[in-house]
Amino acid sequence: AAHDFDVDNRTGFMPPQAPPSRLPEEYEPWEIVLDAAIAEGLQLGDKPGITAAEMSRSESWRQRVRELPTIPILGLIRSETNLRRAHLVLAWTMHFYIHSLPPDVPVVIPLPITIPLFQISTHLQLPPVLTYADTVLYNWSLKTPSNKPTPALDNLQSNTLFTGTNDEQVFYLTSARMELRGVEALELMRSTMDEAFVGDDIALRRITTYLDRLATVIDDLQALLMTVRDGCDPSAFYNVIRPWFRGVDSDPSKRRWEFEGMETDPTWTYPAELSGPSAGQSSLIHALDMFLGVDEFSHAPTLTGHGQTTKKSAFLTRMQLYMPRHHRNFLNHLAANPRPLRALVVGGNPQLLGAYNKAVDALKRLRDRHMQIVTSYIIQPARRAAAEKRGEQVGLEDSQQLKGTGGTELAKFLKAVRDRTAAAVIES
Ligand code: HEM
Ligand code: ALA
Repeated sequence: AAHDFDVDNRTGFMPPQAPPSRLPEEYEPWEIVLDAAIAEGLQLGDKPGITAAEMSRSESWRQRVRELPTIPILGLIRSETNLRRAHLVLAWTMHFYIHSLPPDVPVVIPLPITIPLFQISTHLQLPPVLTYADTVLYNWSLKTPSNKPTPALDNLQSNTLFTGTNDEQVFYLTSARMELRGVEALELMRSTMDEAFVGDDIALRRITTYLDRLATVIDDLQALLMTVRDGCDPSAFYNVIRPWFRGVDSDPSKRRWEFEGMETDPTWTYPAELSGPSAGQSSLIHALDMFLGVDEFSHAPTLTGHGQTTKKSAFLTRMQLYMPRHHRNFLNHLAANPRPLRALVVGGNPQLLGAYNKAVDALKRLRDRHMQIVTSYIIQPARRAAAEKRGEQVGLEDSQQLKGTGGTELAKFLKAVRDRTAAAVIES
């Protein structure tokens, strides 16, 4: 059954083999235009002090995109990995296209991108926009060839980058390593579910051990998260890397994205989901929340992406739409099945209660540390940028609230999710 969900017992939500790094021959024009964006060192259209030469180089690259042939996707639909690669290539190209435009011109995504991207997205049941899977799960290869069944955490490299910087690569690989370390968490969750089904004293003792171990794994995830600081510079992240991720709802210039050729197929409607990539799309963290019952039992209110208060986070539910559909199905499967863990803990012994609370506390601490990262990688650089502009013309970014690339009011949102996690602790 795990196979149907595309969850590997060695690599979890990451594929066990490196994903294809090139599409079949027929689709070379797409690969070549993406290669060219990278080779040109395309710059952000709203980069301060962008030179005329850089502007004209990026305009001629965009002209090449507009002049691409509209390639039928028939040669891709029989291969899941090729479809994924096609989504990746077209979504990266689209983000290069949009964010290299000067900030004052309308965003019109050219027809040779729109048509195949919409078709492929329909097949994959994904929004036509860059996702966590396009940047992390399916964007790696081995640094040095190896026969090991599981990629070593230090033997990964990212394939596609907006900036070609090591900082950007460290950012993606931090998530990738967490996904791989998370495989043991998935195992422990499964073993716990099996034992919960039995439910006798021996089973409870085993579950206690599994929860103890789970707390350790979550602590390791936290330690891995903090390694983003070794190699990803906060100001490079904020000023140079992150702007490429912006989706329609995190773009300070608030431009509508127009998709040329959308009318080609009468069944297409304007995409409802066009948020930028966010690790909020990591199925691993969603699975942990579900397993521990953080998502259903906690009484702390949570903010949605749009600032209203509800119990369940609308943002995290929405992020599931950006996950590979098999992973989304996996989470739906978890949600649809009884989750007896908290009831067992409440009716169990002090050891079990202690182990459960330890795991919840580890997840809460992971979120505390994540908030620290967000402070140093987004909130502080944004303040510095605003201070530098003071006295000059007011920048676009200052005039509105700081948004996460997923579109959230990030500080409020992350605090609410952290508090909700803390509230899942069961008092003895
Ligand atoms: C959510 C920033 C690294 C996991 C978010 C959000 C922001 C953010 C702003 C709010 C949602 C949005 O609008 O996008 C950052 C920054 C990072 C970083 C600046 C590093 C420089 C990571 C890593 C992971 C991760 C490595 C691990 C997979 C999550 C999760 C959420 C989230 C699971 C959803 C909220 C939650 O469940 O607590 N992140 N993030 N983040 N991030 Fe990160
Ligand atoms: N979601 C992360 C951000 O907002 C990438 O910067």
